[in-house]
Amino acid sequence: MKRPQVLVARAVFPEALARLREHFDAEPNPDDTEWPPEELSRRLRGKAGLLGTAAERIDAALLDANPQLRAVCLMTVGYNNIDVSACTARGVLASNVPGVLTETTADLGFALMMATARRMTEAERFLRSGQWTKWRYDLLVGSDIHGATLGILGMGRIGQAIARRGALGFGMRVIYHNRSPLPDADEATLQARYVDKATLLRESDHLVLVLPYSAQSHHAIGAPELALMKPTATLTNVARGGIVDDAALAHALREHRIAAAGLDVYENEPAVHPALLELPNVVLLPHIGSATEATRRAMVGRAADNLIAALTGGVPPTPINPAVLPLRL
Ligand code: DGY
Repeated sequence: MKRPQVLVARAVFPEALARLREHFDAEPNPDDTEWPPEELSRRLRGKAGLLGTAAERIDAALLDANPQLRAVCLMTVGYNNIDVSACTARGVLASNVPGVLTETTADLGFALMMATARRMTEAERFLRSGQWTKWRYDLLVGSDIHGATLGILGMGRIGQAIARRGALGFGMRVIYHNRSPLPDADEATLQARYVDKATLLRESDHLVLVLPYSAQSHHAIGAPELALMKPTATLTNVARGGIVDDAALAHALREHRIAAAGLDVYENEPAVHPALLELPNVVLLPHIGSATEATRRAMVGRAADNLIAALTGGVPPTPINPAVLPLRL
């Protein structure tokens, strides 16, 4: 019997490719080229599955050009690049990897918040440029993490993992805003209190964004929201670019409307708003929230589990649209 063909849209660990090849004829992308939409669509001709990331746009046009495609399995948790309704309408499985990167991303989010509050990258630049000549009472003073109010916008898995670090590890008072409050028992465990968005903005000493990107969350933090925050507050974004209006944030940082920001994601990444690059009070990371070796291996491994199960009549562990199962193969 002819083996199904799959496309691996980006470079992956060799063992993940080897595993896919136990089941499929897999076309890899060892150079990690970011194919434009037409090239991606062309390479998908005849393929039953795609193993991809949050970068490849999967829309109705691509699905209609490739009616043999049955499964789109991402190695990321974010999936705002997929038109899920279009997949469901055509009986195509979409999957992501929730759970696999929660703790790693929470570690990075917490570290970025701390680096931002304590001005760590600014301090390193100061030292490396030879400006450190003496101890001084107000040299690079930042703000405390312990005992401060941690605000979390978006209380999913990663938000809860950050709340746990703040409340139980650093004695922070945790407040959050989400589409719906957590069950009472979870709030009690995390020592977290649900508040409305305006209260979250007004009361947070350190606000961390962990909500998924969607049309509703586009520019959830813009000039009006930044205006509500304390001038001493920090803002950390480990969710998605586009949730923050980067131009408005750069303006607020320049005017010291808020004290500092820590960003791992950007509106037009990998391009970074030029105004942000000029500012000392922002810590800038290149979207490395889930970037540990173990977690990246687990992410691609879970994506492969989903693809193999989907195309061999099994049960994919983390489908986004389980309604399409079992697939018409
Ligand atoms: C994710 O998994 O969504 C990470 O942000 C990588 O894109």
